Amino acid sequence: MLTGVRFNSYRPCLPLAVQRAIMNPQAAVTNPLAMNSDAPVFEADVPSLARIARGKVRDIFEVDDQHLLIVTTDRLSAYDVVLPDPIPGKGRVLTELSNFWFARMAGVLPNHLTDVPLTRVIPDARVRAPLEGRSMIVRRLNPLPIEAVVRGYLIGSGWRDYCETGAVCGIELPAGLPQAARLPEPLFTPATKAAAGDHDVNIDFAATCDLIGESLANKVRATALEFFKRANDYANRRGIIVADTKFEFGLDDAGKLYVIDEILTPDSSRFWPQREYKTGVSPPSFDKQFVRDYLETLDWNKTSPGPRLPDDVIAQTVQKYREVLNILTAAPP
Ligand SMILES: Nc1ncnc2c1ncn2[C@@H]1O[C@H](COP(=O)(O)OP(=O)(O)OP(=O)(O)O)[C@@H](O)[C@H]1O
Ligand SMILES: [Mg+2]
Repeated sequence: MLTGVRFNSYRPCLPLAVQRAIMNPQAAVTNPLAMNSDAPVFEADVPSLARIARGKVRDIFEVDDQHLLIVTTDRLSAYDVVLPDPIPGKGRVLTELSNFWFARMAGVLPNHLTDVPLTRVIPDARVRAPLEGRSMIVRRLNPLPIEAVVRGYLIGSGWRDYCETGAVCGIELPAGLPQAARLPEPLFTPATKAAAGDHDVNIDFAATCDLIGESLANKVRATALEFFKRANDYANRRGIIVADTKFEFGLDDAGKLYVIDEILTPDSSRFWPQREYKTGVSPPSFDKQFVRDYLETLDWNKTSPGPRLPDDVIAQTVQKYREVLNILTAAPP
């Protein structure tokens, strides 16, 4: 069973291509049969497979009762609203980076990837071409109903929580920490998967145990903290701080745990360049900084539909996604 897929950013009664045409009439409606393989993918269309869900970024198709095809599109969400303009190539960057980390973390926990080739699932080369490099054929698992967030630094909703309560997800912290402070040790700060239209809500460990059981909660916490530690140590050697990140986990029918979805990408993590890091402010992060800075200049109430993006903001955002991929995956000097 697939759970947790949300439609909070769209008017779900309309097909996405139609919504996009309304929000963005100049843009071509994405039809893979009419696209070359480098054209941006706003929505994936695989005529031979049933689409069973659409997240903010991913389109999910049923392959069979054991497998799913997950296509990472070029959609970009900001403040949980999907913007009408795709970021060309973003889905391929996220897929390549996830694959990189899945392989690197395979010794910690198995992941949802399979070795089923895309050619077997989509034999038609014209349909397949735009989806190459952005598709994963995965085990169809039961996603746990929590977001496994790990924080190494005090930022975002963790910072807001701390300002209000002196704690993050019920974990007491020393008084007087500034925004973006490095935490004494990385914290597991889970959140519920919000229902459509809502934002995720931070919960404490006891609430996590109520949701998934104590022994699974302990395993998820230990695994998420180990992923974070390994990733942050690795990224630090390349001049990047992993400030926080979010993992998703799923169970197979035998109760075996896997890491699913995406892992340690700029969409699921805050990556900060070490040389620009300082406390007392929200440091610039790779990924959506250009978009957020631009959106802050607008009179937009942060609800759907989102505004169009100027070409230079799109181009700078593409470049930032590629830059973080290159820094993290390039061979060491
Ligand atoms: N192996 C898997 N088996 C079943 N479901 C999966 C698997 N991998 C990912 N999923 C689900 O597919 C969906 C991916 O969609 P997407 O990444 O667009 O997320 P979202 O839920 O809209 O938002 P966000 O990632 O921001 O929380 C998620 O609901 C995720 O739980
Ligand atoms: Mg997701």
